[in-house]
Amino acid sequence: MLAYRHLFHAGNFADVFKHALLVQLAIAIARKETPFFYLDTHAGIGRYDLQHAWAQKNSEYRDGIARIFSRTDCPEAVRPYLEAVRAENTDAQLHFYPGSPALMGRLLRSNDRMALTELNRKDCEQLQSEFAGDRRVQVRNMDGYQALKAFLPPKERRALILVDSSFDRANELRRIADALAMAHDRFATGVYAIWYPLMGSRDTSEFERHLVNIGLRKLLKLELSVRSGSPQGGLSGSAMLVVNPPYEFDKTASALLHWLWKALSVDGGGRYRVKWLSGE
Ligand SMILES: C[S@@+](CC[C@H](N)C(=O)[O-])C[C@H]1O[C@@H](n2cnc3c(N)ncnc32)[C@H](O)[C@@H]1O
Repeated sequence: MLAYRHLFHAGNFADVFKHALLVQLAIAIARKETPFFYLDTHAGIGRYDLQHAWAQKNSEYRDGIARIFSRTDCPEAVRPYLEAVRAENTDAQLHFYPGSPALMGRLLRSNDRMALTELNRKDCEQLQSEFAGDRRVQVRNMDGYQALKAFLPPKERRALILVDSSFDRANELRRIADALAMAHDRFATGVYAIWYPLMGSRDTSEFERHLVNIGLRKLLKLELSVRSGSPQGGLSGSAMLVVNPPYEFDKTASALLHWLWKALSVDGGGRYRVKWLSGE
């Protein structure tokens, strides 16, 4: 089950999609001065060396971050994300890619907190050393779905929660739906961002319908695919569901995704979509 290592995929188009949106969610939440809590249930190693042999194996970042790293014409909605990636690379050459923990580490203020959970022991050790000495950050080698129970509701009463599974087990969408229902019962006002691959459309529509049926309101679906068909064994698109998105986040997401789609589509195909599943 823990064969998945994100280093093979770091900086690919799905990472760009999820991280550019995540940065905008964090910026919107940090508009209020009161502290917030960030929980990353599937945190990975935090920061990725794209020269590492694993990242080089399929060089997925070449169709992702490498396509936009040096672009100067991005809209305001994409700019803070690109600046954060560039800040990891001091010589203007793309070498390192920040995962969700490293990106959020840049956006957290001194009185915000974050908890990072990662089930793979080795990856978790790397994550721990990445954040050693940062008193805002707690790193735990534990199951991300248990973390929802352990960390919610947070004392700040304001939180952004990223659920970014590696989807290497059967029935993962069901597991996410159950965990989300439980988390939402404990903490209904949190902003939850759930990433998932767009593969079998029947499974994903069932998942989305289920979340609406269990009573989640204010449910926004964001989607980006970058090619006409599905590459063999690969991913053509991915989605993020945001529960309780910040005010006008749909507008920001549209501007962001419109530009990303144009920049990342490999054959002029694919599409982006911003759709309320319930309760705009
Ligand atoms: C897609 S990667 C995470 C990437 C990271 N969120 C980022 O954006 O930089 C998924 C991670 O989840 C870990 N993982 C898999 N199942 C898990 C579980 N049940 N609880 C916590 N972590 C898990 C994997 O080892 C992998 O590192």
